[in-house]
Amino acid sequence: MSSLRAIVTGASRGLGEAIARDLAAKGVRVVLAGRSVDDLHRVRKEIESAGGRALVQPTDVTDADSVARLFDAAVAEFDGVDVLVNNAGITAQVNLVDLDEADWDRIFDTNVRGMFLCSREAGRRFAESGKGRAINVASVFGLVGRPGFSAYCASKGAVINFTRSVAAEWARFGAQMNAVAPGYFATDINADLRQDGVAMAKVLRRIPAYRMGRPEELANIVTYLAIAAPDFLTWQTIAVDGGESSV
Ligand SMILES: NC(=O)c1ccc[n+]([C@@H]2O[C@H](COP(=O)([O-])OP(=O)(O)OC[C@H]3O[C@@H](n4cnc5c(N)ncnc54)[C@H](OP(=O)(O)O)[C@@H]3O)[C@@H](O)[C@H]2O)c1
Repeated sequence: MSSLRAIVTGASRGLGEAIARDLAAKGVRVVLAGRSVDDLHRVRKEIESAGGRALVQPTDVTDADSVARLFDAAVAEFDGVDVLVNNAGITAQVNLVDLDEADWDRIFDTNVRGMFLCSREAGRRFAESGKGRAINVASVFGLVGRPGFSAYCASKGAVINFTRSVAAEWARFGAQMNAVAPGYFATDINADLRQDGVAMAKVLRRIPAYRMGRPEELANIVTYLAIAAPDFLTWQTIAVDGGESSV
């Protein structure tokens, strides 16, 4: 079992919840970050009843002070941070001609600024300790273009190239940054899509595996990158997408 300490952003539901639970099941002590405090406590209780350890820290990743408090809380409770999972993210489906500045900013504030703020806090600590790992949850939409998703695709492309740049900085002091690019996983982020039979059929036709992923299939890869991958593996983006981005 591991004695590592991890922060998972967006741990209140969906992929972040699955990642937090999987890390905790492998013995990692987990700080659950997000804005929905009741949901974070639900996840904490489930982790604890399975024998794991978790701390809830209400956090808005777009707010630098809130992110600083997140890292302070992790250090106060667990005496350090070894792993950061930048998972918090939002999307919107709007064609560019109708996309307003507020939607663009909201997506970039969460998906890019949030990742930057959390990674900066983590990197300062990793530089001191000479080790540490960050895993960024990008998207297949950061590897390909999709009509109606220009802001989201641009933000996830930024996640991937941020990963590449920071990995090169951190390799000098022994820390790693990698990313995962999920395809479609059934979570709240695509609840509307899953209600629309025609749109769903179109999505499934694009996925060679002809199904959505199960959150634990992504969590498994994130946990591998967090605790088992060799230190020499860095800057990679691993698509977990049933083959969607291969065709
Ligand atoms: N599901 C998919 O098919 C899919 C595919 C590709 C990529 N992704 C990516 O995977 C990640 C997780 O998505 P999901 O599908 O699990 O979506 P979700 O079910 O909608 O969950 C999103 C999570 O992000 C958190 N979050 C949003 N804004 C935040 C903020 N300002 N501060 C802190 N936390 C915030 C939410 O927590 P609170 O609301 O509690 O703050 C929630 O826990 C995202 O980065 C998403 O882009 C998902």
